[in-house]
Amino acid sequence: MKYISILASSILLFSCKKEDKTLFSTEDIEDIKQHSPIIIKNTFEALSSALVGEISENGVESAVDYCNIHASSFTEMAFVDNNKSYKIYRVSDKNRNPNNTMSEVDLQIFNYYKESMGQIVNDTIVIENDKINYYRPIQINNPLCLQCHGKVGETVTNEVYDKILSKYPKDKAINYQLNDLRGMWKVVSHLENEKK
Ligand code: HEC
Repeated sequence: MKYISILASSILLFSCKKEDKTLFSTEDIEDIKQHSPIIIKNTFEALSSALVGEISENGVESAVDYCNIHASSFTEMAFVDNNKSYKIYRVSDKNRNPNNTMSEVDLQIFNYYKESMGQIVNDTIVIENDKINYYRPIQINNPLCLQCHGKVGETVTNEVYDKILSKYPKDKAINYQLNDLRGMWKVVSHLENEKK
């Protein structure tokens, strides 16, 4: 992967293979740079207010059930605007839901973020032939996260962890500390008429 240019102060642009020709016009890329952060913000706000509401009304264990049932309905929505469709995902190297694993390209961006931790971390765009991935890092930015992603027996109670394992037997998403990099938002855009 080659880093090719800095588009704006807060956005880095990567191209997967230098010889790749993209189907996206400059206007498409500008659109994607405008829309993706809004999609991330709306999804983040919907998910976190549902999470906080569920924890305060029914407790952490019940919120695990809630995330299990509803997280994908927040993140699997597709948005269509003009000639492009957008889909939002959360991916992690230590994923809880098996659907949230990282592709090789995701991992390269994730490693780039890991190396830049402690500095200002930017949104990143990867342009492939027929799709664009827009990434933003997700940090453990709130002690609340540690109730389900921290250390078992400390911030994660044994009861909560039993509940997590009953839903996600292959869970890897524990042992985080405050400010750790947890994963990434990923907004994937396609040109509607190019979709197979
Ligand atoms: C009540 C427990 C709970 C809390 C609190 C919680 N999470 Fe999670 N988290 C989950 C569950 C359950 C999933 C799996 C959701 C699914 O099935 O897609 C998950 C999935 C994720 C994922 C997707 C990647 C993966 O591992 O599958 C990210 C990223 C994430 N959480 C970050 C956070 C952050 C950041 C916070 C704090 C703001 C947080 N979580 C708070 C339970 C929780």
